[in-house]
Amino acid sequence: MCGIIGYVGREQALGGMLLEGLRRLEYRGYDSWGVAVGQNGTIKVAKQAGRIIATNPSLPDATIGFGHTRWATHGGVTDENAHPHVDCTGRFAVIHNGIIENFRKLRERLQQAGHTFVSETDSEVIAHLIEDAVGESQDPDAVVQGVRAVFNEIRGLNAFIVLDNHTRHLFAVKNVSPLVLGRSERGAFIASDALALVDHADEIHFVNDGQVAVIGQDQIQLFEQATGEPQVLDWQEMTLTAGDTGLNGFPHFMIKEISEQPDVLRRLVTDGIEPVRGLAELIRESYGTFLVGSGTSSYAALTGSYLFSRIARRHVNFTVGSEFKYQEHFLTERSLVVALSQSGETADVIEAVMAAKERGATIAALVNVPGSTLDRMADYSVHLNAGPEQCVLSTKAYVAKVAVLLLAAHILNGSEHAGREIIWQSVDGIEQLLSPIANDNLLTVSRSIVDHDHCYIIGRGLSYPTALESALKIKEVSYIHAEGFAGGELKHGVIALIDKGTPAIVFSPLDETRDDILSGAMEMKSRGALIIGVSPEHDEVFDLHIPVSDVGDGSPIVNVVPAQLLGYQLALMRDLDPDKPRNLAKSVTVK
Ligand code: AGP
Ligand code: GLU
Repeated sequence: MCGIIGYVGREQALGGMLLEGLRRLEYRGYDSWGVAVGQNGTIKVAKQAGRIIATNPSLPDATIGFGHTRWATHGGVTDENAHPHVDCTGRFAVIHNGIIENFRKLRERLQQAGHTFVSETDSEVIAHLIEDAVGESQDPDAVVQGVRAVFNEIRGLNAFIVLDNHTRHLFAVKNVSPLVLGRSERGAFIASDALALVDHADEIHFVNDGQVAVIGQDQIQLFEQATGEPQVLDWQEMTLTAGDTGLNGFPHFMIKEISEQPDVLRRLVTDGIEPVRGLAELIRESYGTFLVGSGTSSYAALTGSYLFSRIARRHVNFTVGSEFKYQEHFLTERSLVVALSQSGETADVIEAVMAAKERGATIAALVNVPGSTLDRMADYSVHLNAGPEQCVLSTKAYVAKVAVLLLAAHILNGSEHAGREIIWQSVDGIEQLLSPIANDNLLTVSRSIVDHDHCYIIGRGLSYPTALESALKIKEVSYIHAEGFAGGELKHGVIALIDKGTPAIVFSPLDETRDDILSGAMEMKSRGALIIGVSPEHDEVFDLHIPVSDVGDGSPIVNVVPAQLLGYQLALMRDLDPDKPRNLAKSVTVK
């Protein structure tokens, strides 16, 4: 996925908001960046590989422009492959999000027709296709028709924007990858996330799949891509504020968002219960519920399957988003598919939901971004209200998803009050882990891990998905190969990996898994492992102990926080940027 921002108005595009907007969107992709402005006659482009942080490209003043931060899929991370890409005449510039699955055939055809390519990307074909489709026409409508025709030719999940320097308009179209329009008296905007439009747009409108947006100096129009029919824009007030986008005194978004978790949970139990009741009702009425998610969201979904079993005596299925389409054959119109996604834009989950909708299943979504693709595809949504999550690692949204599922299970069981109680206890448990004393202890643990290349994490029952999520937190931000396992799996091969001094994190809540997980810890210890116990009580098998509160079924909420903090500390010890780990992007909008 990538970050996209565009502007047409009376102010200077570049310094005014393009660079600032790209910096806010960098979490969406940070391999390279690029901007283009339309000056009288020609388009000026500045682009290069690497982060945009302190960049100040020298481009002429112009009142129309756009920018892109890239997460490379086709073509190396080089200056030439950065977006925007320009056509042979220099009239059109294009920025693109997604993968053009048929780009090789299109590129060959265009090259045979005499077009010159300068990049290795799939995206560049769009610029040359637009050049051919529009020809010499100076009529904005001809460009709209050209965009529609090109959109029909490219295959895959894509969004692209064309800057036409002759008509001095931006033209945008999307299929799944997100686009949001914005307006204020300063002009017209378009971006891949409303976050980029904070302090610029007063109102926003989310573009639907298959719509073409035409952004001019004083007008924004929307057309149905398939028919060309004009569409009405449903403007909503911009509710995000500058406070949502900034670090607010924290050194990184990761520690800021970890620290916000108690407030996220308080908001949920004080004024976020109603939507959870609706979700519980849908689960009660369904004949088969499937929780689907990718990455961290998949571990929240897996946790949910344990919670519904333990609390509501209800079997709820779990599937990883990218695997769902291979096992959805038995879905019926009585099935309920619950899509979990912080961004609401994960292509693997969107594809799973599309497959489920084709079988007539009801779709519910647990998302943190209102107006996101999954939010708009779902028949019913629960907004996590965790606030914008800008660190590539998901932390507060994970804890919010698990809390929603725990509450839904208790509501289903008729014990809503007990569920709320557990959440309040979890708030206290997290706050204790955010204290300076807890931090010092975690630093000792981090120092015992930082020089190792491997780290193993085990848990049983509710702690098994916690072990998986904890491993993901540590590996994706510190690049230490951390691996989570079901505690019982050790003896089935995993224990061969244990060497002298290998750090092993053991989740040992005071529940029915304790005896077995401690014996697993002993098995690893007897082979030289360094045992790090995450538990309300110490045990002699622990070489290091991370004390956590005993919160019963809330343990997946509290016990993941030490791993979040360890990941953060390990990244800093290894001189890495915890907010933007290599090769990753915040929301994976490509398959
Ligand atoms: C989270 O730490 C990871 N960066 C990643 O696994 C993420 O959870 C996954 O890509 C799913 O994202 P989503 O919740 O926005 O769908
Ligand atoms: N596939 C395009 C490229 O590799 C776009 C990737 C993105 O969405 O950032 O440049």
